[in-house]
Amino acid sequence: MKSKTRLNLLKEKDASVKVGRNDPCICGSGLKYKKCCLEKEVLDNKDPGALYAQRYKIQLKKEADIMGIRKAGQLVLDTFEQITDKIRPGTKTDDINTIVHEFTVKNGARPAPLNYRGFPKSVCVSVNEVVCHGIPGPRVLEDGDIVNVDITSVLNGYYADANQTFFVGTPGPEALKIVSVARECLRRGISMVKPGNTIGDIGWAIQRYAEEQGCSVVRDFVGHGVGFEFHEAPQVPHFGQRGQGIRLIPGMVFTIEPMINLGNHDLKILEDNWTAVTKDKSLSAQFEQTILVTQTGYESLTPYDLS
Ligand code: MF3
Ligand code: CO
Ligand code: CO
Repeated sequence: MKSKTRLNLLKEKDASVKVGRNDPCICGSGLKYKKCCLEKEVLDNKDPGALYAQRYKIQLKKEADIMGIRKAGQLVLDTFEQITDKIRPGTKTDDINTIVHEFTVKNGARPAPLNYRGFPKSVCVSVNEVVCHGIPGPRVLEDGDIVNVDITSVLNGYYADANQTFFVGTPGPEALKIVSVARECLRRGISMVKPGNTIGDIGWAIQRYAEEQGCSVVRDFVGHGVGFEFHEAPQVPHFGQRGQGIRLIPGMVFTIEPMINLGNHDLKILEDNWTAVTKDKSLSAQFEQTILVTQTGYESLTPYDLS
């Protein structure tokens, strides 16, 4: 209740300021408000946690929370180890679901996807032109396929979310290309994470590289705050402009999870209301990690090798 009172006070204070983010600043600098006094308020604020909660609905994580998410993240990585040798021709996507589900539960955790907004399985498995949210089932992996496995575990109430795209058997040139570009996109996105940079810097770095390589960045799905819930504020687009968007501060935890297509970025959703596929049926690849903003840069809470 105490924090609620404080929130309401902050709300009233904000409501009294009639200046919009893009309006000229009230101090007369000639700069946009968001680039001037609004920005200073963020930088000088004594309680950035309250400010970010009120303004953006972002919940900063404390040391104990970070430990919890890191543990959930380690379980996600251990789960990937359980499936890697099953990524081969002849495996059903449902076999991957069984392994992920059983290993997660055996370790005292819960697979976040199961029953999430009606999702029927414990992991997303997305093959070839499937961009994301593939539902495990009878489909059999074939030589030359690429397959993304997206694992989110909830351990002691803390969520960690990561995914990787694997080759099934021997990849062709298109598979090699899209997987290498998507992996490098995540690497470049993560490398932008440090206090003072913005959410826009992350998307900018990803989009620039992907498009330079002749690939496209999916617009319809974005990274997200994570930790206390599956999907929290802020949204983290994988496209954007340098210096735009929310400024990163220590204690923010969010995913970066660029979906990169060999062709156009347009999608469609299949009849099952989940499976997202590229409209032009081109290959799509994705890598995701859960990232903490530290005092000096970042720490991945689901660290796997991106080189
Ligand atoms: N793990 C996905 C993400 O990265 C979300 C999957 S939602 C589900 O945000 F319901 F399909 F599991
Ligand atoms: Co995610
Ligand atoms: Co995910």
